[in-house]
Parts: sequence; structure tokens; C-alpha cells
Amino acid sequence: MAESYVRATLSALRGVVTQLSLYPPGHPAVEDALGAATKAADEMVGQNGETVLTVLGDSLYLGRGLLAHASLEFNGFLRRLQSAGIDSITFAGHVSSGDLADVASLIAGRTGDLPAEGTVRLNTSSFTVSDLQSGATMSGLRRSYARSLDVLRGIGMAVGAGQEFDLSGASLVVENLLEQTLAQPGASVLLSTMKSHDEYTFYHSVNVCILSITMGRFLGMDDETLELMALGALLHDIGKLRVSAAVLQYPGRLDAEQWAEIKLHPQEGASAILAAAEPGQEIAAVVALEHHGRFDGAGYPASSANREKHLFSRLVTAADVYDALTTRRSYRRAETPQQAVNVLTQGMGAHFDPDMVRGLVALLGVYPPGSLVRMRDGSIAMVTKASRVDVPEGVRVIDTGGTRIPEPEPMQIDPGEVVEQLTSDSVGIDPASMLESMTE
Ligand SMILES: [Fe+2]
Repeated sequence: MAESYVRATLSALRGVVTQLSLYPPGHPAVEDALGAATKAADEMVGQNGETVLTVLGDSLYLGRGLLAHASLEFNGFLRRLQSAGIDSITFAGHVSSGDLADVASLIAGRTGDLPAEGTVRLNTSSFTVSDLQSGATMSGLRRSYARSLDVLRGIGMAVGAGQEFDLSGASLVVENLLEQTLAQPGASVLLSTMKSHDEYTFYHSVNVCILSITMGRFLGMDDETLELMALGALLHDIGKLRVSAAVLQYPGRLDAEQWAEIKLHPQEGASAILAAAEPGQEIAAVVALEHHGRFDGAGYPASSANREKHLFSRLVTAADVYDALTTRRSYRRAETPQQAVNVLTQGMGAHFDPDMVRGLVALLGVYPPGSLVRMRDGSIAMVTKASRVDVPEGVRVIDTGGTRIPEPEPMQIDPGEVVEQLTSDSVGIDPASMLESMTE
């Protein structure tokens, strides 16, 4: 698939930019990243020929074609390209690592000038805005997700810097996300499998918001209640922006001192939200404060121990842990949806409110949208639509010979034929990239 080569190249280029923000040009870490990016770009050009990537608003295009998944996956990186004055990148034939290094330096803010014409050219695309807008546009759901990320970045920056902010942007995106999620619950749950290593907290927050909305509706909450709860869900981890990056991104198990710092994020988040909340929105601060409190009264912060948690907090706690478990972190692998559901079920009555777990399990079923399953015949399928009563709907993504199917085939997934659940990392397929292959 052409898109997978673009994703690999962007991911590698982002890696170079990250290294350049830490080390000077020529440092071995920069050189390694540059080598990987050059290789990825060469493979992309080998596959696609001359490759023109254009950024327009939230969307990334390959030629005239929208790359819906990459647009969202690289949302933050596309923003960086735009703020560096880059609207398009053309990879013309064999890519030289020197040219790629120049582009990365520009994105990293190390140089102010567009590099001279070379094998990687900037802003030379001949596509006009109308060429691209006449093509596919991002679905409302993806756009809503992208806007939520943007709002979280803005609030996150303010919280991190101890600056004032207001919640009007957050209210707007929550309203939008609510509308999209309620209209397409299955697609939303599938999209909530989006992961980002670079911006874990923001993607995680949007995922928890989507899961909380679908759970809340399942439990019978009306729109007004859902909107208040969703604001809390979206902002529940915003206090993490006050935790030092060294602790937050520490690639291993944390020591006691680091843990103590992490454990401050509920209070930090709650006080930041309270300072910004309009009358009626204070409940979002309660959710942030209580989301690590356990049903049995344990958990943190100690100030909220042995008090009954708000219903919203109990709901968000379950969604939070489910999304966290199904995400790969530097210190542990991702769990399958089934394993994550098992962890929640085992924690019923202790860590989690049993009603919330029952709701989540009933909503997601044994095979939530995005589950990858190995079938008895050896092929691998992905669930696109969960079902509590019928056979889940899905698409076959890998054939019996182990080869990826370019255009996934719709199928009914007979649970009796499922041998095991797999993680997306082990299969090498990102479920959210399959969103377009499902219909609701
Ligand atoms: Fe948290």
C-alpha cells in the first residue's frame, strides 16, 4: 500500500527532527535517524515514483489522494511542517541524505531558510487547493479527532507553562466529538484504537473521551449529561503536562521519586481546570481529580481516598485503563482488547465500579471493533463492528498464506472459528487505518 510507505517515511523523518532537537547535526543519534529516514524515503520513491506530499489544513495528500489515516497519525508533525512554512514536500527520485538533513533542520527550527533545490524539494507542488479539495476529504469523525488533538495541545501548553486558558475551545470540540461519536459509535470505537508514541497523552485523552461517550450513552445518559462527562474525559490527564518530560517519557519502570511526581497529575489537572471552568463545568475538575481513585477507596490522590467517586469519574477510570492497557508503552507491550477486558473484569469491585465494567464489556463485546483475530484457516481478520447478539462483522486483512490483502474483504467472523486474538503490533496492522473499509 502506497500509504504505508509514506507513513514509514514521515515517521522516520519525524525521528530525525526529534534527534535534532536533542543533539547537534552530525551526532551519531542524528546520523542513525537520518540513515533510517533516507532508507524509508528511498523505498517510498521506489514504490510510488516521484512522491508529492501536500499538507492542507488537517489533511495530508499523496498526489491528489487524501491519506486519511496518516493525516491523523501525523497530525502534530503536519502542524510542525506548516509552522516551518512547508506546504508540500516532493521526493524526486533517489533521495540524498544531505537533502533530507536540510529539510529536517528546517523543521526542527535550526535553520530559517528553505534548502536549495535538491532531491527533496519544498513547496514546489503544482497541485492547487481546488485539485485537492475536489478529492476525498477527511471524514467528520477524523476531523473531529484532529481538532480535539489541537485543542488539547493548546490547553496542554498553557497548563505546562502555568498560563491561563479558557475551556471554550474544549467545549466546542467535545460537542463535535459527541455528535460524531453518537452518529457512528462503531466507527468511533475503531478510531479510538489510534495510538501515538510521540503524543501519547493527547491521543489517549481523545480515545478515552470517545470510549466514555459510547459507554455513557450505553448506560443511558442524555446528551447534556454526556457533554459534561465528555469534557472531564477529554481533560482528565491534562495535569500530566505539569509532570517533567524526563519522568513522563522515562523509558522504563519508574522509581519512587518519579512515581511521586506522576501522582500529582490529578490535583494539578483539577486545579488548572477549576481555574478555567465556567459555572457548570467544575465537574470536569472532579473527573481529573478522581480518575486514579479506586472503587474500593484506594488509589490516589490520598485526599480523595475513601470517598465515593462521582459516577463520571468511575466511568472514565474504566475507559482510561482500557485504553492504556491496549497501548504499547516503552516499558510494556500492548494487551489485546480481550486481555484488557479480563483485567477490568478481575478488578471489578476493587479497582473498578462493577457497573462500569459490565457496561464496557456489554458495549465492546468479546471482540471490540479493531480486534485482530486469527481464524482456524490461518487467515487474520479484523473486527469492524462488534455485536452482542450476532456474529461480528469484519474484514479479512491477511490471507491463509500470511500475505496482506490489499483491499480487505468483508466477512462475518464466526466466533467458533477464532483461534486467538492478536495485538496490532504483532500483526503489523493499525486497526484505525481500516476505518474506511467499514460501513455503518
Ligand atoms: Fe491519569
